[in-house]
This record gives sequence, C-alpha cells and structure tokens, in this order.
Amino acid sequence: MRAYEIRGGFGLDKLVLGERPDPEPGPFQVRVRVKATSLNYRDLMMVEGRYNPRQKLPLIPNSDGAGVVDAVGQGVTRVKQGDRVMGLFSQAWPAGEPTRTAQQHTLGGPLDGALGDTMVLHEDGVMLTPAYLSDEEAATLPCAALTAWSALVTYGALKAGDVVLLQGTGGVSIFALQIAKLLGARVIITSSRDDKLERARALGAHDLINYVTTPDWDKAARALTGNAGVDHVVEVGGAGTFEKSLRAVRPGGTVSVIGVLSGGSGAVPLTSILMQNLRVQGILVGHRQGFEALVRAFSQHSVRPVVDRVFAFDEAVAAFHHLKSGAHFGKVVVRVG
Ligand SMILES: NC(=O)c1ccc[n+]([C@@H]2O[C@H](COP(=O)([O-])OP(=O)(O)OC[C@H]3O[C@@H](n4cnc5c(N)ncnc54)[C@H](OP(=O)(O)O)[C@@H]3O)[C@@H](O)[C@H]2O)c1
Repeated sequence: MRAYEIRGGFGLDKLVLGERPDPEPGPFQVRVRVKATSLNYRDLMMVEGRYNPRQKLPLIPNSDGAGVVDAVGQGVTRVKQGDRVMGLFSQAWPAGEPTRTAQQHTLGGPLDGALGDTMVLHEDGVMLTPAYLSDEEAATLPCAALTAWSALVTYGALKAGDVVLLQGTGGVSIFALQIAKLLGARVIITSSRDDKLERARALGAHDLINYVTTPDWDKAARALTGNAGVDHVVEVGGAGTFEKSLRAVRPGGTVSVIGVLSGGSGAVPLTSILMQNLRVQGILVGHRQGFEALVRAFSQHSVRPVVDRVFAFDEAVAAFHHLKSGAHFGKVVVRVG
C-alpha cells in the first residue's frame, strides 16, 4: 500500500510518501481501499507536532477517510465487500460518555489514519456511506461534521428559534451552520473576510460579523440579540476568543469548547462563568450513535458538505499548506484512490 507518513520528526517537510506491506484484515476487521480523505486542523497540528509531541512515529495522519470495503475478516456482519464506508474518528466509542479507550483509539493519531490508499479497521469503526454523497464529500463527515453535531445536538439540544454564534468559516463552523439551519436556529457567523461572509449568507447565515474590522464581535453579536446574548457559541477560536465568547452568550447559555485556533491555554474567567450560570461544554468529536443520527438527518435533507477544494494524492502536502493558509471555506479534501 502507498501512504504518507510523518517520519523522522515533525513538520510538513517530514510528511513523505512511502510503501508499506498490504495489510490483511483479522477477525471482525475490514480492509478499506481509501478513495478520499479530508483535512482537519487537528491533522495539521499532528503533522507539525503541536497536537501530541510524544506521538510515536512513523504515523499515517488524517482522521477522516471514505472508501470501499475490499476484504472482510472472519465474523464481520456489519458490512460486506464492495460497500462504500466512512471510518469513524474514534474506533471505540459506541455511545454515552467517552472512555479512556475511546479517547486513545482515534484515527490519525495515535492510530494510523486515512492519508494512505488502504486502512484496516474494526467493523464497528466504519459506517456505510449514504448513496447521495461522493467519496470526497463523505470523507468530510466523520470529524468536523460530527463535532458540530455533538456540540449543537447531542450535548446542545439546539431547537428552532435558538441563536447560535459561529466563529470563522472553516470545516467545523460551516457544518455547524448547516446543522443549525436544519434545526431552525438563527445563525450569527464571524469571519476575517467579507467574501467568505457572503458565502455564509448564501448558505443561510442570518447575521454576519467581520471579526477583523469588528474586533468587539462579542458586543456586536449581543447587539443583534437585543443585548440578551446568544444561546450557544461554537468556540473554535480558543485562547484568543474564549473570553469574548463568554460575553456573547446569554445567562444560562452554552459555550461549546472545541478548538484552539488562536492557542490552547489561557486564564479562565471563572467569575463570568458562575455569575452568568453558563454551561461550558468540552467536545471531543463524538460517538458512533451521534454519527448515525447525523448521517440520518443529512440524508433526509440531502445536506451536501461544502468542499472548498479537492487535491490529488501527490499534492497532499500542498493541501496541508492550503489549510494552513486559512484561505479555505469549508473542507479541504485529498483524492486518494
Ligand atoms: N474538539 C474537537 O473534537 C474538534 C474537532 C474538530 C476540530 N477541532 C478544532 O476546532 C478548530 C477548527 O477546526 P477546523 O478543522 O474547522 O479548522 P479550519 O477548517 O482550518 O478552520 C480555520 C478557520 O477558522 C477561522 N479562524 C481562525 N482563527 C480564528 C479566530 N481567532 N477567530 C475566529 N475564527 C478564526 C478562520 O476562518 P475565516 O477565514 O473565515 O476567518 C479559518 O479559516 C481547530 O482548533 C481544531 O483543532 C476540534
């Protein structure tokens, strides 16, 4: 099999294409010929050694992949040869609260991921791809879409009429926009670029804030709600945005802590959290049951992931540079098969 490996140290210059022996599926395992993989910010951090500097190398990166089952091991009943499937981010989180095992069995680190033409996964770690999606589209769902779903639906219990504040127009935020629209919520979205805000409007965002020209975007968001505050913030900005997110949300509202785009640590303003009775909910992607619910909802409403650009397999490093530049809107995909 051919795969990119982070090899001999971290950094995009350490991401090299190589050969490995073709793996055989063991009992309850399936072999997937990967057709497409999408990039998450986590994958970039993993390659650069910022996600887990102690990650054992070599590692095949990428959490998200979709492809076709070409061999099944003994005892497999969930899928059969020829089925189109997506890999699950956590290979060991069926439902409920996460366990240490669920956290430690994630694709693209510590387990080998989807930036290669073959993966062997447990049958519980794959899900059938809905027929209406291409492999490139399906490869965007397991991490970014499920994260947005877990934040807004599994933990957030979002309902029609709620107001959601989204940060930027990357993978998680654009899925959050699509999910919030599906559920009848009002969406306020921020971006560094007006052209991206217009694209978000075309997808149904109600209110647009440029966080560069309006650095007090928290106040602007509150003003849009008659100063009441939003019901839910999908926090992907991290250290540089967290405090403002606490100021943008209404008393009793929810801040879903998801991302660290501007840093992963900083002071936690405990007083704001307690005085406002806020719910600060950490999110780590999500479980299989949540992914099944997401795929059912997307299929019923034919929701199509927003794919910014598809790169060829031998352009994978360029795809990472594209993600790193922040020029994208939605998801960046690499075609593998
Ligand atoms: N906890 C989890 O389970 C989980 C799952 C997935 C992702 N994440 C994390 O969530 C974050 C987003 O991931 P992603 O894959 O969606 O990333 P992405 O697609 O690379 O999104 C990047 C975009 O975020 C926006 N952005 C960057 N810095 C910002 C800031 N300071 N304030 C507001 N917006 C900012 C920019 O949008 P504009 O160009 O529009 O300004 C940028 O283009 C990352 O930190 C990632 O590690 C966590």
